[in-house]
Amino acid sequence: MYSEKVMDHFSNPRNVGEISDANAVGQVGNPKCGDIMKIYMKINDDTKVIEDVKFKTFGCGAAIATSSMATELVKGKTIDEALELTNQAVADALDGLPPIKMHCSNLAEEAVHAALADYYERHGMDTSEIPQCT
Ligand code: FES
Ligand code: FES
Repeated sequence: MYSEKVMDHFSNPRNVGEISDANAVGQVGNPKCGDIMKIYMKINDDTKVIEDVKFKTFGCGAAIATSSMATELVKGKTIDEALELTNQAVADALDGLPPIKMHCSNLAEEAVHAALADYYERHGMDTSEIPQCT
């Protein structure tokens, strides 16, 4: 049912934890299952590069694997590049997710967006650039 990459990121998730001096923090809940995800980022204020990112989740195995992959994909990227990340891209990078588990991958994408919205708010920037759930 799960690809090898999903099993790898589930068994050995990357970037788990907290960043004590994070300057962007996002927390979201999954309306479908009630699970929670929190993402911490350390963003360079000059270059806007996401220098570090960590996550914590109460989500299921698919949420852990997608968060692990999502953090790998945004680490070292600029804010603008990270805003282009979609849950489909995360699922593709994991060689696919079962359709019933796609909602779990939303958690990672939304937490990335929530953390970036937090950063924008802290800097008085216009959050309307950030994609919103429909
Ligand atoms: Fe809740 Fe997957 S079932 S995140
Ligand atoms: Fe980004 Fe929902 S917050 S798509």
